[in-house]
Amino acid sequence: MEHTNKTGFSTKLGVIMAAAGSAVGLGNIWKFPYVAGENGGGAFLIVYLLCVLLFGLPLLTTELLIGKRSGRSVYGAFRALRGNSRWQWLSWWCIASAFIIMGFYFVVTGWCGNYLYEAVLNTYTGMDAAQLTAHFSDVVSSTPRMILCGLVPVLMTAAVLWFDVNKGIERMSKLLMPLLLIMMVVMAVRALMLPGSGEGLRFLFRFDFGRITPQVVMMAVGQCFFSLSVGTGALITYGAYMPKQQSEARTALQVALLDTLVAVLAGVVIFPAVFSFGYDPAEGPQLVFVVLPSILQQMSFSWLSGVLFFLLLFIAALTSTISLMEIAVASLCEASHDRLNRHQSVLIVTAITTVLVILCVLSPRLFSWSDRLVTTILMPLGALSMSLFVGWFMPRLHPALTFALRWIVPAAILLIFLNGLGVL
Ligand code: PFF
Repeated sequence: MEHTNKTGFSTKLGVIMAAAGSAVGLGNIWKFPYVAGENGGGAFLIVYLLCVLLFGLPLLTTELLIGKRSGRSVYGAFRALRGNSRWQWLSWWCIASAFIIMGFYFVVTGWCGNYLYEAVLNTYTGMDAAQLTAHFSDVVSSTPRMILCGLVPVLMTAAVLWFDVNKGIERMSKLLMPLLLIMMVVMAVRALMLPGSGEGLRFLFRFDFGRITPQVVMMAVGQCFFSLSVGTGALITYGAYMPKQQSEARTALQVALLDTLVAVLAGVVIFPAVFSFGYDPAEGPQLVFVVLPSILQQMSFSWLSGVLFFLLLFIAALTSTISLMEIAVASLCEASHDRLNRHQSVLIVTAITTVLVILCVLSPRLFSWSDRLVTTILMPLGALSMSLFVGWFMPRLHPALTFALRWIVPAAILLIFLNGLGVL
């Protein structure tokens, strides 16, 4: 059955693609490898996979359910379901998180745009590991260039929301998502053929339980939420556009599977190359931007491979920024009781985002602080609150889900959180 609405998702597949588009992005290809690299590789991966099963799946279901049952934006969802505004703070919490993510996420999307441009011009061809590392520092230390790179995707995202072209995005994602997967499989094969690649695989897949520390667990939980887009209401927003007969649990499962596949695949591309080219796995946020050009140069059709890969990565990032900006735009329309129309809301949200992106470019400290704040505090606590909200206040759920949301998920997040902060 067709279900149309103001943002124009029309089919079940449309919602799945939009949710998958939100989930699959820089979190998988940029953040997962560098956070795994900083937190012990295999130890991190095993905890991450457990987190996806234990928290990710129930919470993805929860967000979609809140959206679908309320039919509202993040701003109105909790108050509509409770009939009062006692949980209104959670709406603001989510909207604030979305803005803070946008600040640094657009900066990294800008890095991708820059590398796409350089792939077209063949700029990094012939550079070795040390030169690529130096090149990255040069790129990010040019403030005007970074502001430009960050603001181009802001304007592109705003244009998508302004012209309401989600149907186009939906169709494009159906083509691009499989293309991204194929491209990554090809790159993984190339990476595995590099001399010394086995060490990278061992780093990623050797489950050394002794290296699981409270810090590793906390980072894995945060990364799981960030990667699945859980805890800021992106999926509440999309859940509101879901056809009534669509199962939120099944949609959640499909999104989680695809998202996890892309993250693990990114690890299989990056770590063999890290060890083969002599990089440090704990290199930090620049990791993939120095390692990927090293691999791409070695591939057949290297120019085409580079352009295609960075183009796909840039678009994967855009489908995530679209969902982030939509949280704020839909909320602003509803909060103003439709006195602001969509276009006005897009303008206001774009203006605020522009300021945040410029601030993140100007201050590397703000950049890494926002990233940390969101992953270790805002998203886990947002998710914990949503879990309690749905567990205690929403009727007609599967009893096992109710039990998990009331007790298990909140207790586990809280324990991990306090443990990671060293309070316990
Ligand atoms: N899940 C996205 C990624 O992995 O790149 C990032 C993200 C999008 C986080 C939307 C939160 C969100 F609401």
